[in-house]
Amino acid sequence: MTAAVSLIWLGLLPLLVQSLDFTYHNSSQLEAILKDFNSRYPAITYLYSIGKSVEGRDLWVFVVGKYPTKHTVGIPEFKYVANMHGNEAVGREILLHLIEYLLTNYQSNATVTQLVTNTRIHLLPSMNPDGFAASSPNDCDSVNGRFNKNGYDLNRNFPDAFEENKDPVQPETQAVMGWIKSETFVLSANFHGGAMVASYSYDNSYTVPPDNDVLMYLAQKYSENNLQMYSSNSCPGFSGFTNGITNGAVWYKVKGGMQDYNYIYNQCVEITLEVSCCKYPDPSTLQGFWNDNKVSVIEYIKQVHMGIKGQVLDMNGKPILNAIVDIQGRSRMCPYKTNKNGEYYFLLRPGTYTFKVTVSNKSMEKTLTIPQSSNLSAMTYNFQFTEQTTIPATTSGLCSQATQDSNRSSTLQVDLVMFFFNVLVLYNTL
Ligand SMILES: *[C@@H]1O[C@H](CO)[C@@H](O)[C@H](O)[C@H]1NC(C)=O
Ligand SMILES: *[C@@H]1O[C@H](CO)[C@@H](O)[C@H](O)[C@H]1NC(C)=O
Ligand SMILES: *[C@@H]1O[C@H](CO)[C@@H](O)[C@H](O)[C@H]1NC(C)=O
Ligand SMILES: *[C@@H]1O[C@H](CO)[C@@H](O)[C@H](O)[C@H]1NC(C)=O
Ligand SMILES: *[C@@H]1O[C@H](CO)[C@@H](O)[C@H](O)[C@H]1NC(C)=O
Ligand SMILES: [Zn+2]
Repeated sequence: MTAAVSLIWLGLLPLLVQSLDFTYHNSSQLEAILKDFNSRYPAITYLYSIGKSVEGRDLWVFVVGKYPTKHTVGIPEFKYVANMHGNEAVGREILLHLIEYLLTNYQSNATVTQLVTNTRIHLLPSMNPDGFAASSPNDCDSVNGRFNKNGYDLNRNFPDAFEENKDPVQPETQAVMGWIKSETFVLSANFHGGAMVASYSYDNSYTVPPDNDVLMYLAQKYSENNLQMYSSNSCPGFSGFTNGITNGAVWYKVKGGMQDYNYIYNQCVEITLEVSCCKYPDPSTLQGFWNDNKVSVIEYIKQVHMGIKGQVLDMNGKPILNAIVDIQGRSRMCPYKTNKNGEYYFLLRPGTYTFKVTVSNKSMEKTLTIPQSSNLSAMTYNFQFTEQTTIPATTSGLCSQATQDSNRSSTLQVDLVMFFFNVLVLYNTL
């Protein structure tokens, strides 16, 4: 062979690797696919299990990022979770196709390359593999496979800030709670089916969250890139949404949901994505679902770079753990605290904000203007104390120093028509 001919052959080689098919993949296939991706792209991927389901299936998390194995200061942690209701199956396949898209476009597409370089992206394609194994395609409405093997709804199984949740914490929930505590996740979404809408916190209170502007913006960022969702009436019987988004509680209240848990207790903004009218549609529709969601899933990850990030440092430049970073007019139920690198991340729309950073008995205030971001990296600002500070005590509990100030803001209007509709029809959707 001449050199030219070999070069042509080398160029064609990647095409010979089979691309992911549009069908549902059971647990053993899913595991094999993730291991295969990991072995083909070792430099930018990492595969780990966060625990096991009741029936002993691993809860696999696949990471894509330039530094995949551990956190790097300044690089935000992002996550997607799918299939927590085992019979809501589309998100599970969307995440597998997203992995393939990121890996095959890294270094050939500038946007994807920058996204993978600047973000550590964690993907949990199935939080409820036992439920998935117990459900089947073309079952659009039943609850077969919705629950975990012990019969619990995992999206009702998290600690709740607004009322006591007495259900025993399930192994899958425990695994996710441990996972969330192990990383400083900044932004997340979880995939469901049975409707087409992007839903945002709170799920269990009509109180307006302090970050309502950001939550609505994020939900709309997902929906506006998915024309089916954005049109708001794509599922039979649904007509009450505007622009394909809704506040969770206004739609219907959820106790023990995962998105409120992320947002209130873990400083991680999470929204809930309902991506298919039929919970477990025919496999022939999967390619269409991927096409409808592929712009949204990327645009949504980009949003982790909105706002401001940085570190809180003492007078010697050492990072301070557990410093409280508060923004005037936006104080949260659980105050925002820095991680062990002294890092903070705040998703914010462009504008001027006054920050107050508190360490033990010292605090500093600073007013900063956040510009419209033009790159995939948030504005960086470090708060450095100029006098001696004491290290804040490490507190325990779900939300140490929680200030239950849920009366501080106004209450959302409940749409009565939607309300009755939900009570009658929708209890089992989200
Ligand atoms: C998973 O699917 C493959 C291919 O259809 C099949 O060979 C295998 O038996 C399935 N595994 C389980 C555990 O169902
Ligand atoms: C690169 O990826 C981005 C994000 O997915 C996409 O919008 C864009 O169309 C891609 N560019 C090319 C030239 O394919
Ligand atoms: C803050 O605490 C330190 C150590 O306990 C103490 O020395 C200092 O006087 C305190 N400062 C104020 C302003 O209370
Ligand atoms: C990205 O944009 C932000 C402002 O939105 C700016 O602070 C930061 O320096 C920029 N980063 C790079 C690498 O250009
Ligand atoms: C909220 O307001 C109601 C009515 O004003 C009051 O009864 C309740 O105690 C308040 N709750 C909190 C947590 O402040
Ligand atoms: Zn669901």
